[in-house]
Amino acid sequence: KIEHKSGSVTWKSPSNIAIVKYWGKHGNQMPNNPSLSFSLSKSCTETKVDFDVDPSRNGLELDFQFEGKAEKKFEAKIRNFLTKNSADFPYLNHLKLGIESSNTFPHSAGIASSASSMSALALCLVSIESRVFGGFSDKKQFRTRASHLARLASGSASRSVYGGLVCWGESESVADSSDYYAVPIADDIDPVFNTFQDAILIVDSAQKSVSSTAGHKMMVNHPYAEMRYFVARSHVEALKGIMQEGDVKGFGKILENEALALHGLMMNSDPSFILMKPNTLKIIELIREIREEEEMPWYFTLDAGPNVHLMYPLEAANKAEKLIKDVLLPYTQDNTVIYDHVGKGPEQIKK
Ligand code: PMV
Repeated sequence: KIEHKSGSVTWKSPSNIAIVKYWGKHGNQMPNNPSLSFSLSKSCTETKVDFDVDPSRNGLELDFQFEGKAEKKFEAKIRNFLTKNSADFPYLNHLKLGIESSNTFPHSAGIASSASSMSALALCLVSIESRVFGGFSDKKQFRTRASHLARLASGSASRSVYGGLVCWGESESVADSSDYYAVPIADDIDPVFNTFQDAILIVDSAQKSVSSTAGHKMMVNHPYAEMRYFVARSHVEALKGIMQEGDVKGFGKILENEALALHGLMMNSDPSFILMKPNTLKIIELIREIREEEEMPWYFTLDAGPNVHLMYPLEAANKAEKLIKDVLLPYTQDNTVIYDHVGKGPEQIKK
């Protein structure tokens, strides 16, 4: 029985950078391969939800504001996610939601924000659920539920519900892993990886030209699809041992291979997309050259766009930041770099 309840909840949740990429799905947001990511620290979405659950209300009422302005397109996306998954929201018809969201990174930075925004929203919805129906028995159950709901909104968002290294999708090498929700595995690896820095070199801040929806679709009839899923599974398995041993080189090799595999798949799919820009390649070349010449332990990855995520352990940060300023910055757009690092995961903001 649903009683009349109202209140307000706020969560701040990070973006994440995939090490093994999720690219290809089936059914209702089920991944075709397991993926691994680091949750970031500074690139976050903060979402406040005012809710009113009233059994006499008949039909969902929804208002969404992004950084103080009504955002009808994203509002429609949220409405679609809620109604499509109404089995997960039995109180949906009695619900009024006022959502206010903002990012801690500039929208123009070209960083994908669905992971941070959808995980923040999912965490708010689970907080509301626990207020309306009574609490969850423990924190683990709460986060599992949030990860499940985040996945239904945006696959990669399922991973942002935790800090550190996170796995989403069933893998033999990751205990309790599931296609339905992500699990945290940061405690299971050498501590050097929890110090990893991510310098995001902005090559082009324009909106990316392939949505991930279109991208996942391209995998359906992709000639290399089955081999891609096999390789991704092997990468998750190999990385488990590599990261337990603290093998930064072994990690970097797979990190770069995954980035180029993702872009390779886009380049030879139908339709074909080339999302790297000339300066993306220039920066990649320089990263590899400097790695050889200076024995720099730094490695790149890319998501579905032209910007380069340059990753290195904290102990190399001083030297890395100097090299970035002196050598790489001229190839970015307006000297734009965002220094982020592996973070501790979402936090609830009590106001
Ligand atoms: O969560 P989606 O559907 O936006 O897909 C994300 C896809 C990549 O960012 C390219 C890879 C990943 O695993 O995050």
